[in-house]
Amino acid sequence: MPAIMPSPAPRSPPGGAALAWPALLAWYDRARRPLPWRASSGETADPYRVWLSEIMLQQTTVAAVIPYFVRFTQRFPTVAALAAAPEEEVLALWAGLGYYARARNLHRAAKMLATDGFARMPADLRRLPGIGAYTAAAIAAIAFGVPALAVDGNVARVLARYLAIMTPLPAAMAEITAAAANFATAAAFRARPGDATQALFDLGAGICVKSTPRCPECPLQEGCMARRRGLATILPRRTAKAPRPERFGAQFWLTDAQGAVLLRRRAARGLLAGMVELPGTVWREGRPWAEAEALAVAPLKAEWRKIGAVRHVFTHFALTLDVYAGAVAAFSAADLGGFARPAAALAEEALPSVMRKCVRMATGAA
Ligand code: ADE
Repeated sequence: MPAIMPSPAPRSPPGGAALAWPALLAWYDRARRPLPWRASSGETADPYRVWLSEIMLQQTTVAAVIPYFVRFTQRFPTVAALAAAPEEEVLALWAGLGYYARARNLHRAAKMLATDGFARMPADLRRLPGIGAYTAAAIAAIAFGVPALAVDGNVARVLARYLAIMTPLPAAMAEITAAAANFATAAAFRARPGDATQALFDLGAGICVKSTPRCPECPLQEGCMARRRGLATILPRRTAKAPRPERFGAQFWLTDAQGAVLLRRRAARGLLAGMVELPGTVWREGRPWAEAEALAVAPLKAEWRKIGAVRHVFTHFALTLDVYAGAVAAFSAADLGGFARPAAALAEEALPSVMRKCVRMATGAA
């Protein structure tokens, strides 16, 4: 998502459109969500907590992030504590949150920050791994009061409606970011860039929501062109997405007489890089694995039994995994390219969500 750095000299927006920042900020002062990374009134936001929250919030909802953020900051209260931790521990605390490249980039960035400290300006923040234009602007505004306006999905929806932009997304982003650049020149925005940015986030999350916007409660209703024209529920328009490709695979739940399960670590690069999984087939597109074909790549010969299938939707594809269970008296995990853990201890293992679903199926847990 793009970030907007307004030009230093405030200009008036073209066509007279102006955003009612004072009304929006007054609403935010009353209705803002008490999120664990937010400073309370009159306090300065901690850049470490702002940065961590913005990385966690990339592609992930606020509700999903909160418990992870709380656990993470209890274990790593400072950027120095995070920098000093082994990567495996960082990945373990991230397990279940998805998009694991974020955790690895976060750890790399923490090591840089622990020696160099935080830069304030978006262009400098962007040098850190895992920080694009949107995140750099959000951190600069929220942690340092730099007048940059970060346009995420929520903000784009609010602005598309406010200006009744009929161009479908994603093409509309050019118009939306141009409008944001104008709105960010306003003195009221420049006085409180962090609060104004977060006010737009909260408005998008609670009032100007996707399907049924709550226009009568909106502090921007007076100037909103979509509301005036009765278009709020149909904007922003969106170009139809290509359907998600379907991939298929099989995973194997292999136990020994002691109840230990065979696990392995995924490759250091690519999807779910470095995460722990049940051994399995490759995940191929378009064609499910016939049983004989899947069992030909099972870790060893056993009485395999298909116990069900698990479905998981990633951003770029949907995955259906057949889960096979097999029991043997003993196996050598090292010879099979993995390691063993007691089945009863898997709750503590850092597994990605898709693998957790397989484990739940194999253990019969709800
Ligand atoms: N989404 C992205 N950043 C956010 C923030 N700081 N507060 C709420 N929602 C967000």
